Amino acid sequence: MNWNRFALQLSLSLLAIGQCFHLRAQVPCLFDEVKEERLWNNPFLKAQRKIWEQHSAVSSGTDLLLRSNIIIPVVVHVVYFNDEQNIPDTRIYSQIERLNQDFSGSNEDLNNVPNVFKHLVAKTGIEFCLANEDPDGNFSNGILRVPTSINRIGTAIGTGGRRNIFYEELEGSEIWDSERYLNIYVCDMGEIAGFASAPFTAIPQEDGVLINSKYFGVNNDPEFGMGRVCTHEVGHFFDLNHIWGSALDCEDDDGISDTPRQMGPYFGCPSHPRTSCGSEDLFMNYMDYVNDSCMFMFTAGQKLKMLSALSGPRFKLLHSTICNDPDTVMQENGITIFPNPVGNGPLIVHSNNSDDLIQSWELYSMEGKLISAIFRK
Ligand code: ARG
Ligand code: ZN
Ligand code: CA
Repeated sequence: MNWNRFALQLSLSLLAIGQCFHLRAQVPCLFDEVKEERLWNNPFLKAQRKIWEQHSAVSSGTDLLLRSNIIIPVVVHVVYFNDEQNIPDTRIYSQIERLNQDFSGSNEDLNNVPNVFKHLVAKTGIEFCLANEDPDGNFSNGILRVPTSINRIGTAIGTGGRRNIFYEELEGSEIWDSERYLNIYVCDMGEIAGFASAPFTAIPQEDGVLINSKYFGVNNDPEFGMGRVCTHEVGHFFDLNHIWGSALDCEDDDGISDTPRQMGPYFGCPSHPRTSCGSEDLFMNYMDYVNDSCMFMFTAGQKLKMLSALSGPRFKLLHSTICNDPDTVMQENGITIFPNPVGNGPLIVHSNNSDDLIQSWELYSMEGKLISAIFRK
């Protein structure tokens, strides 16, 4: 059936029933440390994470067929202590472009992937846009600029163990609903390059990505000048681990089977092949620690894991309509239906009220032909 031919008319009957190891002084990462700490301190998150891990059978190898890209709305909070940290819009645009190239496998340096690994390369189908709407529905350009008098706000912890960066009251910038937006904070983090919370590792008020202002977007750093600290951190945000896992041995791995086991991180710009744990290493992956200009790919297994995070704990981002062209979204009685026409992709029916459960629906073509119907008791 050619869905392109149909515009939609829906008749809905709704029932409102409602480790980073400090290997190198210059660029430590907070990822593993903070993840552990949060999980440890919060039994509820720990339990949720465990259930999720048991249910998401992230094997690997199989490349998922996405029928259309997933579009993730991004809000960038530039929280600056001095003018230099108040980076210009152009750097923000360059970062979004970097993310879009890297996640779609259209990066200019993709052909540097060694032949033996070419079959692993994935186009993730995840796309990013600067939000065009704030949480109240008002127009926005997706960029917030907030001055602060707190030095290194990215690592500051305030009263009640709250991280300053996420709270206006603590001279940071209030997070936008982290279920509907990917919040990226650009701020001074001292010697840390970036940080991201994996699913279930942060409370919703602190669930976002932090990037050191020095390394955000295209910049002139000799190692992190291309904006790939953010590519790496967004990988963590969607549940990717470092390619070697957490421990520096061959037992522990990243939980993904198409990435070969690796002893530990690589730095700088190694030349292929390098071997550890009995196989050639995939150090040119975004989840390693090499220079920006020496990392070029995600694998099919990593893609699957990210999409699985998007169908599980981060599912609300998947359904976010923030970046959709208003002409392609139908909204009535708190129900949002898009895209219209549906094209080859999935049709998404979304209720603004999370207590609503769609009990039954009928989908008609423009000609009035019944295309699908679902009735639940
Ligand atoms: N050290 C940081 C972290 O693990 C990110 C480093 C990413 N490397 C890069 N070349 N972009 O979170
Ligand atoms: Zn990392
Ligand atoms: Ca692996």
